[in-house]
Amino acid sequence: MTQKAIYPGTFDPFTNGHLDVLERALNIFAEVVVVIAENSQKRTLFSFEERFDMITKVVQDYSSVSVEVLHDGLLADYARQLGARAIVRGVRQVKDFEYEFQMSLLNRHLYPEVTTVFLMPNVKYTYVASSIIREVAMLDGDVSKFVHPFVLDMLHRKLEESKMNKK
Ligand code: COA
Repeated sequence: MTQKAIYPGTFDPFTNGHLDVLERALNIFAEVVVVIAENSQKRTLFSFEERFDMITKVVQDYSSVSVEVLHDGLLADYARQLGARAIVRGVRQVKDFEYEFQMSLLNRHLYPEVTTVFLMPNVKYTYVASSIIREVAMLDGDVSKFVHPFVLDMLHRKLEESKMNKK
């Protein structure tokens, strides 16, 4: 039986939409490991360490959640190593599907015992994405409804830093 699931992503930053998916996963699985991984197509604002700190803080009250970092290597191999047979992914809109479908089949090819489980977040998060959050925050827009206060604070500090560096 599948007890342990992994919830992988870039999480740059971790949003309330991600948290919503995580909470849904906890209704199904006894244990969920949030895996901060690298997407080779993305350059991140936050380092692995910063994302680890932010997610650890956001999930501190969830006893069946742990946070891990996959610095390199395949997610499928990591899932096997952890003994996880389920990969949780959030899908918000139809356009997410093609990419998710491809990743899911590839991961299954690499680790035949693994199943990807797609969960839909609350509709209020369907238009939320980490890149949009970063952009709105960068332009001094209010993103407080979409991220945990600790993440908001980290975002403000990081953006302040990058503005200082540009001067
Ligand atoms: N709420 C809000 N936003 C959500 C969301 C939700 N519920 N679910 C997904 N998203 C958004 C994210 O914010 C992100 O937006 P962005 O592109 O604007 O940053 C986007 O949807 C998807 O990102 P995320 O969920 O963070 O995952 P990802 O697609 O960046 O992650 C990996 C892909 C890291 C899981 C994948 O590249 C991987 O497995 N890497 C490890 C190496 C490997 O094995 N590669 C082969 C994979 S087959």
